[in-house]
Amino acid sequence: MREYAVLSAEEAAAMVHHGQTIAMGGFTAAGSVKMITRALAERADRIHRQGDPFSLRIISGASTDPGVDDVLANAEAICYRMPYQTSIPLRRQINERRVEFVDTHLSSMMPPLKCGAFGPIDFAIFEAAAVYRDGSILLTSAVGAVPTFARLAKHVLIEVNAYHPEDLEGLHDIYELGLPPHTREIPIYRPSDRIGATLMRIDPGKICGIVHTNVPDVGNAMAPEDDVSRRIGENIAQLLIDEMHFGRMGETFLPIQAGVGNVSNALMAALYSNPCIPPFSMYSEIIQDTIIHGIDEERIHFASGAGLAVSPSVLQNIYKNLPKFLKKLTLRPQEITNHPEVIRRLGVIGINTALEVDLWGNVNSTHVCGTQLMNGIGGSGDFSRNSFISIFATPSTAKSGNISAIVPLCSHIDHTEHDTQFIVTEYGIADLRGKGPMQRAKDIIGNCAHPRYRQALLDYLSRQKLGRVAVCLETGYDFQICFQREKTMGKFSVEEE
Ligand code: COA
Repeated sequence: MREYAVLSAEEAAAMVHHGQTIAMGGFTAAGSVKMITRALAERADRIHRQGDPFSLRIISGASTDPGVDDVLANAEAICYRMPYQTSIPLRRQINERRVEFVDTHLSSMMPPLKCGAFGPIDFAIFEAAAVYRDGSILLTSAVGAVPTFARLAKHVLIEVNAYHPEDLEGLHDIYELGLPPHTREIPIYRPSDRIGATLMRIDPGKICGIVHTNVPDVGNAMAPEDDVSRRIGENIAQLLIDEMHFGRMGETFLPIQAGVGNVSNALMAALYSNPCIPPFSMYSEIIQDTIIHGIDEERIHFASGAGLAVSPSVLQNIYKNLPKFLKKLTLRPQEITNHPEVIRRLGVIGINTALEVDLWGNVNSTHVCGTQLMNGIGGSGDFSRNSFISIFATPSTAKSGNISAIVPLCSHIDHTEHDTQFIVTEYGIADLRGKGPMQRAKDIIGNCAHPRYRQALLDYLSRQKLGRVAVCLETGYDFQICFQREKTMGKFSVEEE
């Protein structure tokens, strides 16, 4: 590594200038940059105090460690952000229209990025476990979009983080797709197929310097499993057992993708611990804690993802038992984990989480009341559109019952009725396959809505008499309007007997 300049985080940050586009490594908190962003935030503060502007266009693979988005947002150092985030301060600035946010599918953002449609990338800044003289790089707990970012960027800055062991080699499967007309098939036929290199390779001349760190991933702590998530998990387990019994699952159980968040994490535990479900593999985007527990319990054979979005103790378990986990895990670029071709070929069971679902099966994953961004669409569309079995799960209510997750019309639509096959809540399952709009509406209300909101939803349905779809333009958003005014949709609920 001697030929690379060794820099302090401050020296690295000093190379970055106002208005530049920075592609940040990592995928969720996993493998995020940890020190250069803090130095960038301090630099932004100093420059702002002098009365000068300093803000950056930040592109990432997915969400980041708080040390990226929270720290830079608190320093007012972000003017543009793509494609996904989970930061509270950044979310506030986006919803106040102080930061331009582009909410886009994690897989399909890659071709326009490669074509330069989002403009040039000035710096790729990412974390590595090791950097070798020839430009070979051993990544850490995530791959995300780093191989593409590093290839496209004019300059590269790397944090070499000693927290991650150098014997991680073998965890990553680095394979980058060409652009049409040179795109070839992706030869993954089982989730465990490895098709690429264990190290990423870049032009060493682009590496402006290395910052040595020894900082743990902050990890993705999950809320403890609750009764609602457990019941959702049990319903999904039953749905999959039924599909298996009706012979609609091929000879073996199909690979599973599980979305992001508390609900997803909890329902995976319900799936792998169900004795009627045989051991299975994951072809997913993120790998959360319960997936590693499932591997430990030999209920999950193998997990393929773009990042280890796990808690610190689970990451330590992986690192302490690396020889075992190198056989059970692989991390790939997000354009491969989320690619429609592979998802379709493998027949993935896609399980994602919704904020609200309407009576026709449209799903809102991203914008509360249509206006307030939560996180972003992430990979949910990549999977829901292409999965063999596509499931959206949600608790039937949010905010202590004040919000019904089942509404007459979604206030924002991320996934259309054409891409949703099953809606699952703690109350049951609506199988939308092969059903027209009115039957879908009846099943969603009868099987999935919270009993307290069912009558108001049925009343809505019966009021509109015209047309194939009983959409009432005048009252379709009454639930959300009521919530905006009164902080509760309570006037549409009736007390349970
Ligand atoms: N209206 C308003 N708020 C709602 C809501 C609704 N209809 N439904 C849920 N919420 C709130 C919850 O109250 C909670 O708020 P809090 O953080 O203040 O407690 C928050 O949204 C998260 O809900 P929770 O029930 O804990 O679910 P989660 O952690 O599983 O996250 C999503 C759910 C939809 C936000 C999350 O899955 C997501 O961002 N999805 C989009 C990206 C994606 O699916 N990626 C998958 C590919 S890996």
